[in-house]
Amino acid sequence: MRARELTLLLEGNVEVVGRIVRSSNAAFVIEVSAGEDSGWAVYKPEAGEKPLFDFEPGLYRRERAAFLLSEHLGWDLVPFTLIREDAPLGIGSSQWFIDGDVREHYFTLYDEVPETHSTLAQLALFDCIANNADRKGGHVLRGLDGRVWGIDHGLCFSSDFKLRTVIWEFAGDPMAKPPLEDIASLADSVPAEIAELLDPAEATAPRRRVQHLLREGTLPVDRTGMRFPWPLV
Ligand SMILES: Nc1ncnc2c1ncn2[C@@H]1O[C@H](COP(=O)(O)OP(=O)(O)O)[C@@H](O)[C@H]1O
Ligand SMILES: [Mg+2]
Repeated sequence: MRARELTLLLEGNVEVVGRIVRSSNAAFVIEVSAGEDSGWAVYKPEAGEKPLFDFEPGLYRRERAAFLLSEHLGWDLVPFTLIREDAPLGIGSSQWFIDGDVREHYFTLYDEVPETHSTLAQLALFDCIANNADRKGGHVLRGLDGRVWGIDHGLCFSSDFKLRTVIWEFAGDPMAKPPLEDIASLADSVPAEIAELLDPAEATAPRRRVQHLLREGTLPVDRTGMRFPWPLV
């Protein structure tokens, strides 16, 4: 599956299927095809980004860095994402499309599908490491096979603490052994492949965040009650 996604996303012929109307930046569903095979991806060109005061242009790099972080941890929380330079509107991220029930999001999963809870807690930890400033309910998807995914990581990896998320139900919970062991190496070094997508201060900041998480051993609690994205879904 991985090899197929890689080939199609990286080398597949790109055709724009349509623009995603509810996206804040310009995001497109594209069909990527190679030979007999084809699939869908979400393409976010840099050219379609709205300027932000707190993030440099090139949010697609953060989308890729979040995927690499999920890969590095072995958590498989972010759909395959790579940077495509030759797509119709220029350089941008191309992320495997997760086919699922569009009525589902974090709140419905938390309330109605308890078997997703351990993955949702893992996603909360992932967001702390990535410093996700925009974990809306709709940025949590469930595929037709029941797997849970996090999407929209354009506002991750700031060197300033900017965590904004809807996933607070697990705050204060002790972290289990496997995730703690998985994150431990990040306290010492951030993989070069991730670091080179970020500026120097951003590239070392995950180490500090992980060191803090390891000291605490629990998922952070929002004492301000303000660390929510808007809108929530
Ligand atoms: N990989 C994906 N698979 C399926 N749907 C996606 C994927 N990425 C984005 N979407 C859909 O497109 C919408 C907009 O994408 P998002 O990443 O939130 O863009 P923006 O950066 O503009 O906010 C999402 O709310 C979701 O419904
Ligand atoms: Mg979004």
